[in-house]
Amino acid sequence: MKILLLNMSPKNYGATQEILKTLRDAAPEGAHTELLCLGDLEIGYCKGCKACYKTGACVVKDDMQALMEKLGQADALVLAAPSYWADVPGVCKSFFDRCTPYGDTNPDPRRPRLEAGKKCYGIALRTGVRPTECEHILASIEHWCGHMGIDFTEGMYFCQIEDKSDIEPHKPLLREKAAEWFTNGTE
Ligand SMILES: Cc1cc2nc3c(=O)[nH]c(=O)nc-3n(C[C@H](O)[C@H](O)[C@H](O)COP(=O)(O)O)c2cc1C
Repeated sequence: MKILLLNMSPKNYGATQEILKTLRDAAPEGAHTELLCLGDLEIGYCKGCKACYKTGACVVKDDMQALMEKLGQADALVLAAPSYWADVPGVCKSFFDRCTPYGDTNPDPRRPRLEAGKKCYGIALRTGVRPTECEHILASIEHWCGHMGIDFTEGMYFCQIEDKSDIEPHKPLLREKAAEWFTNGTE
């Protein structure tokens, strides 16, 4: 089973990274994992030109094409995003926008598509107490999955997370989730 863990924060050393590292390190033997942080990649803004509606391809050439190849190879995705101003971080929104060539809103029959059957697990986190912002972020991830033909399998969230030290008490639950999420077809 190939698992791609995507940190949707611009920061590769924060709480989001800690959550994904915990999941990765607890993945069962035989599972192939890769952890990437969007902040380490060059992902430009969608220009809104809709050239991809005519050509199936994006006019912006950066790390998106390689990232989409990795998504294409994965059986399961874990997308984890912190709340920045009550929404996903800008780089995460740019990523969603740049998926337009691949999504079902693209009328071009030649559009590149991800193979069906992929599962996605969503994770949201925030510093504040109320879960509303996290639910909004999970809804954005689920919305993206819907247009990408990916099965949004489960979402979870963590409130009152200021930095990575706040993840420590949640590690037992994350390790349980890794066993549950990454077990099927690991041979
Ligand atoms: C620019 C910025 C905006 C933020 N906005 C919010 C917010 O609106 N609500 C909230 O609960 N936490 C907010 N936070 C706190 C983050 O959600 C929290 O620190 C999280 O752990 C950051 O994860 P990261 O370090 O992996 O990026 C914000 C943090 C930053 C840097």
